Amino acid sequence: MFIGGYVSASGVGLTCPKWPLCPKGLIPMKEFVIEYFHRTVAITTSLLIFLTMISIIRARRTTPNSIQVSSIIAACLAVVQISLGGIVIVEKLHALLVTIHLGVGLALFSMTLMPVLYAYGVIKFNTTKDSISSPGRTDNILKNGEESSGPGTIGKS
Ligand code: HEM
Repeated sequence: MFIGGYVSASGVGLTCPKWPLCPKGLIPMKEFVIEYFHRTVAITTSLLIFLTMISIIRARRTTPNSIQVSSIIAACLAVVQISLGGIVIVEKLHALLVTIHLGVGLALFSMTLMPVLYAYGVIKFNTTKDSISSPGRTDNILKNGEESSGPGTIGKS
C-alpha cells in the first residue's frame, strides 16, 4: 500500500503501460522501476496471503472461524486487487477505479491484520466460536442476556 501510494503521488502509474507484464517482460527498466516494484511486491504479498490461508485452513480444528473467514476474504481480495490493478492500467488511471483500488487495499490490509494479530496473541478467542478478547480491554461489551467471563472478553462465554 505504501508503494502504491508512492506510485500514485509521484505520477508514475502509467510508466509501465502494459498488463500483466511491462514492455520488457520480467526485466525491470529504469523508466518503470517504481511501478514494476509495486507489481512485484503485490504478487509476492498475494502469494504469502494465499499460503497463510492454506495453513489456516489446514489448522482449521484449532483456528477460530473468524480467523479462517478473514484469511479467506483476504485471499479473495488479493485476486480482486491484482485484477483491479490491471483494469486501472487499461483504463489509464480512471479516478473512480484508482479510488476503488485504494478502498480494496484498505479492506485487504484489515483482513490480513486479523490473522497476524491472532498469530501474535494480541487478540485471543475463547473456545466457542464468536468470543473475542484483547489483553488491553477492560470494558465488557455483552449482547443482551450474556454474562461476562472475565475482564477483556467480548461475546458468548
Ligand atoms: C496486493 C495488491 C495491491 C495493493 C495492496 C495495491 C495498493 C495500491 C495503493 C494503496 C495505491 C495508491 C492509491 C491511491 O493513492 O489512491 C495503488 C496505486 C496503484 N496501483 Fe496498486 N496495489 C496492488 C496491486 C496492483 C497491481 C497488480 C497493479 C497492476 C498494474 C497495480 C497498479 C496500480 C497503479 C497503476 C497505481 C497508481 C494509480 C495512480 O497513479 O493514481 N496495483 N495501489
